Amino acid sequence: MNQEKLQQQIKQLAAEKDALLIAHNYERDEVQEVADITGDSLALSIEAEKTEKKVIVFCGVHFMAESAAILAPEKIVLLPRADAGCPMADMVTAEGLRKLKQQHPDATVVSYVNTSAAVKAESDICCTSSNAVSVARSIDAKKLLLVPDRNLGHYIAKHVPEKECILWEGYCATHDQLKVEEVQQAKADHPDALFMVHPECRPDVLELADHICSTSGMYEFATKNSAKKFIVGTENGILWRLRKENPDKQFVMPNREMICPTMKITSLEDVLRCLETMEPRITVAEEVRIKAKQALDKMLAIPRD
Ligand code: 13P
Ligand code: SF4
Repeated sequence: MNQEKLQQQIKQLAAEKDALLIAHNYERDEVQEVADITGDSLALSIEAEKTEKKVIVFCGVHFMAESAAILAPEKIVLLPRADAGCPMADMVTAEGLRKLKQQHPDATVVSYVNTSAAVKAESDICCTSSNAVSVARSIDAKKLLLVPDRNLGHYIAKHVPEKECILWEGYCATHDQLKVEEVQQAKADHPDALFMVHPECRPDVLELADHICSTSGMYEFATKNSAKKFIVGTENGILWRLRKENPDKQFVMPNREMICPTMKITSLEDVLRCLETMEPRITVAEEVRIKAKQALDKMLAIPRD
């Protein structure tokens, strides 16, 4: 079946099943195109909570669908591919975090939303790439445990020098691979371009940035800024909407390998099958969900950076 036909069938079935189609900014172009809403982790969690639809089809990775299931337990949350995990989220377990907490009983645990529900349940508050600094500033404690991304941890620590930050040694391979030399080369090739970058990149790469932000922050920056050229330091799925919304502007990838394998496995066929079968469904055990929700709710009360 061709792409347009598949998209039509998905739309029709979604309407019949009272489903909201949500896609992260890194999903395949054709999946973003069929979605009702695209966005970053924070925006999508908020949409999942506030929608009146009965079903949420979450085209993204596991922790994102889990966040939706935590915030909206009365809704049916579907993840079209059960194997779409986030390798970085898998770098911290609830047990590992409990051990670290025992070593630092006076610390407040800030977990990135890229974590399992079980890890969130062990955390005091969550953060995303769009509110991480504001979340850290909102905390009274002097000591913070930042899990699991060491690069986001460095970025937060730099902005709250008054706090002691203990970092977990996790990282996102897709972002961590971007090197200073690649950005310098892109800047030399495009001297009139601004460099916007995701805080999951390494600290030395962030030093070169004109703007550090979440994926949605990049759409805002590129659209509002009068510059005509941008070097993009994040996963390449972001390019589809950047180019669509800014046809007069140019977007350059400094490293062409910045592709998240699990964000790219969901196909239109998977989305259609999941609407037909209403599987795979994501649920969270109630005792874990309640604790994880407390950490997410605290975060949601804090504005974006
Ligand atoms: P955003 O919150 O910026 O969408 O990032 C999520 C993510 O997984 C980045 O790799
Ligand atoms: Fe996880 Fe990195 Fe993929 Fe984001 S890009 S989902 S952090 S592996």
